[in-house]
Amino acid sequence: MYSLANQWGVGVSSAVIAVDGPVASGKTTVGRLLAQRLIYKFLDTGAMYRAITWAALEAGVSPKDGSRLVRLAQEQRMGVVFQQDGQAAVLVDGRDVAAYLREERVEQSVSLVSQVSGVRDILVELQRRLAEEGSIVMAGRDIGTVVLPNAPLKVFLIASVAERARRRHAERQASGHSVSYQDVMEDIAKRDKLDSERKVAPLRPATDAYVMDTDGLSIEMVVGRILEQVRQRQWA
Ligand code: DC
Repeated sequence: MYSLANQWGVGVSSAVIAVDGPVASGKTTVGRLLAQRLIYKFLDTGAMYRAITWAALEAGVSPKDGSRLVRLAQEQRMGVVFQQDGQAAVLVDGRDVAAYLREERVEQSVSLVSQVSGVRDILVELQRRLAEEGSIVMAGRDIGTVVLPNAPLKVFLIASVAERARRRHAERQASGHSVSYQDVMEDIAKRDKLDSERKVAPLRPATDAYVMDTDGLSIEMVVGRILEQVRQRQWA
């Protein structure tokens, strides 16, 4: 279904694009739009870490209990299905859990869960299998460095903390949450520290990543520049 010729007229069967970056750097919005333009699938791997966190909280498993988290990840049968439009639905024991992934309790615990290497191993293996068919944009923190180090295009998005806080604050206000800009900014700074200083798969650009500072750029401009990189590579 996804091996359609895209607008670039290139063979897409093994094409994968890794999009990494810190919290609120635009990975998901950019990745989704990029995938639509290329007629690729899109997978936000953060949703997988959130899904396992939600499952742990539902089962009463502490986000600090590494071995129980790993057991839970093995038993819960995580899955991902791609819909007709290329968007992914994350399943836990066959159930689409999209509605729960932004819950505050998930938000508070997901950084801890994503530091457990046994949990990461299970999710990384699934992510690699999902990438095997190609024609996919995968967004996360470690896609270019760990999950798909051979991806022909690795994008790493950066933006200042102030810009990311402004975007995330506007998003939260639009969805009816009353939260101060200062709190959002502090939360982003805290997550940056956790994501980049953790021992397992810390956030950093791959040595051959295309690093883009998105401060002051619109989503369209960011996607346009990435498409230019796709065109230059032609997936030879
Ligand atoms: O992108 P996000 O905010 O939905 O990610 C949720 C958490 O999962 C965040 O703490 C970082 C972590 N994560 C990760 O460690 N590796 C990934 N590939 C994706 C997300």
